Amino acid sequence: MDLAFDPSSSGFVADPYPAYTELRARGRVHWYEPTRQFLVPHHADVSALLRDRRLGRAYPERPVPPAWQEPFHTLNDHGMLDLEPPDHTRIRRLVSKAFTPRTVERLAPYVQGLADELVDRLVADGGGDLVAAVAEPLPVAVIAQMLGVPEEDRPALRPWSADICGMYELNPSEEAARRAVRASAEFSAYLRELIAARRATPGDDLISGLIAVDLGEQEMVSTCALLLNAGHEATVNATVNGWWALFQHPEALAALRADPALLPTAVEELLRYDTPLQLFERWVLEDIEVDGVPIPRGAEVALLFGSANRDPAVFADPDTLDLTRRDNPHISFGAGIHYCLGAPLARLELTATLSALLTRAPSLTLAATPRRKPGFVLRGLESLPVTV
Ligand code: HEM
Repeated sequence: MDLAFDPSSSGFVADPYPAYTELRARGRVHWYEPTRQFLVPHHADVSALLRDRRLGRAYPERPVPPAWQEPFHTLNDHGMLDLEPPDHTRIRRLVSKAFTPRTVERLAPYVQGLADELVDRLVADGGGDLVAAVAEPLPVAVIAQMLGVPEEDRPALRPWSADICGMYELNPSEEAARRAVRASAEFSAYLRELIAARRATPGDDLISGLIAVDLGEQEMVSTCALLLNAGHEATVNATVNGWWALFQHPEALAALRADPALLPTAVEELLRYDTPLQLFERWVLEDIEVDGVPIPRGAEVALLFGSANRDPAVFADPDTLDLTRRDNPHISFGAGIHYCLGAPLARLELTATLSALLTRAPSLTLAATPRRKPGFVLRGLESLPVTV
């Protein structure tokens, strides 16, 4: 039987949730021939497999990518997201010192000030595109500031990240792969220079901090690239997916405007309701079985976060946006050893932006239908036109 799951269809990308409902009803594991992966749609299985050490992000015998893709793979494969213990543990321990809840809390006044400033500018302009005016500049500025990327270099970060992230889609086209390779080469060269400059003149930033510890040169470059990309890409999408959901549920938006005490549960519910990262992959390192289906070593599983977040076995009325939802173990930040290192920072940024928009742009209204990004894995909007 054909599956409704079809990331190449724009209808599916616009709203994958009905197809997930069908997938979950049909079973716990589905072989998907176009990408030769096992799809896993249930919350309990996604959560268990993320924690299962018989699966991993790195698989030594994976098919060798074409040589021209080397700049992308060198950059990607040395970042902690694509490493396994002991390298993963070592690098994560070093970097996580900069992302403890306490360190992040100290950033709160700066992040809120930035959010307020961006929203005030949007209001002074009489509206505009929420993506370009607020959702993008805030997380880019925050992570660039933390790493010490000079202000004049920051405009290049978005296009580099977007091009590199093209490789995280299922079956990227050759054109997308070439763009990712070019961006990886440029971004790596840029970071090498920046790291050399910080080595010569250390500052009070995360790159200077990482230089002081014992990371190899490529590990430094890949760690900085991962932090800069992961540090904004999903936050941009979470912000706009959240506002798109609120605009489609005016009663929920009105309730939130009337009662800012809903903010903490609202942020979690928006992250659950329209999941910014829809899928993560794992290699099977030792034979496993899910629901009696054998999945052999060397196979790849695609864990469907967007589906897990709508699983009725875990969430009451999963297709309802409920900003008061308290029992909300969504999986948007992952689980297990790769659990999002930036989750406290992402929550801080999402809360600051949401609260600034609610209070400083109280009449914020959708001005036109937004344009959706074509990708399925990184789910977001190109633009979200608003009036104030
Ligand atoms: C709403 C925003 C965000 C979402 C939804 C998100 C989601 C995720 C998810 C699902 C993973 C795990 C992927 C996997 O298991 O394969 C992850 C890992 C990671 N995230 Fe985030 N993230 C967000 C924001 C951030 C921010 C602001 C940072 C800041 C630095 C960040 C840094 C990282 C890093 C470094 C990892 C790799 C951790 C590891 O491999 O141990 N993320 N993120």
